[in-house]
Amino acid sequence: MEDIMKSLCCGLGATAPKIEDSKMEASKIKNRFDRKEASSKYCRLTGTGVDKREKRIVKRLLETVDGDIVARSILDMPCGTGRMFPFLSDLGFDVYSADSSPFMVEQAKENLAALGMRVNPAKFAVADAFKTDFDDGQFDIVLCNRLLHHFSSPESRQAILKELRRIAKHFVIVSFFHNASWDAMTFWMKHFFRGTAPTDRIPQKLTTLKQDIDAAGLELIEVKHPRKFISKQCYLLLRPKRNT
Ligand SMILES: C[S@@+](CC[C@H](N)C(=O)[O-])C[C@H]1O[C@@H](n2cnc3c(N)ncnc32)[C@H](O)[C@@H]1O
Repeated sequence: MEDIMKSLCCGLGATAPKIEDSKMEASKIKNRFDRKEASSKYCRLTGTGVDKREKRIVKRLLETVDGDIVARSILDMPCGTGRMFPFLSDLGFDVYSADSSPFMVEQAKENLAALGMRVNPAKFAVADAFKTDFDDGQFDIVLCNRLLHHFSSPESRQAILKELRRIAKHFVIVSFFHNASWDAMTFWMKHFFRGTAPTDRIPQKLTTLKQDIDAAGLELIEVKHPRKFISKQCYLLLRPKRNT
């Protein structure tokens, strides 16, 4: 289905996605969120149906690995305005949060303090997912929610995945936008009718992500969808390849 839809919508070349230069794309995405207004706006996702569904899926993936390891620490990167923190904390994790935007990190701390949560500043960092100062294997698990879908270039996605692999001791959980979904179909249709070339939030095939995962020295353990074939949001449970 995904191929048919994509060919239908961008086969004529009218809306073929533009693969951006990796460096330019990275700074464009970072700059977009590096504003006070972006952090205030992003708070609105907390408590919505999307928020609840995403947490349910992340919880299931965390339960999957529960028998394999004793996971204590988890890094939520990018943490945005901290919506995952209370949920991960309630699951018993020692939660660390990082984001490239200082505004997001500050907003996260404010939001969590307002909820009466203990905010340890040492566990919040401004960090770039392409290259962090964290140690090798510093966190048992690294969660990377809603970042990869911003990158059209495989180099960018692979560089981020490589860094996540380096700092994760056991597992990495990432989300991406899956092409085999109703949402993706409407995305392509919208661009087709507008005659525009998408540059951001481009749904990808699972096979494309598998190539990125492999190139980053990770292996795919499980795929989970909050709403299969409807929502484009999709989660992958990964672990570092043993021999890399
Ligand atoms: C769509 S928000 C998702 C936030 C959070 N994960 C959530 O699901 O609520 C994307 C976040 O990625 C951050 N970001 C963008 N580029 C980044 C980078 N290179 N490294 C780390 N964070 C980045 C932005 O500042 C923003 O907070």
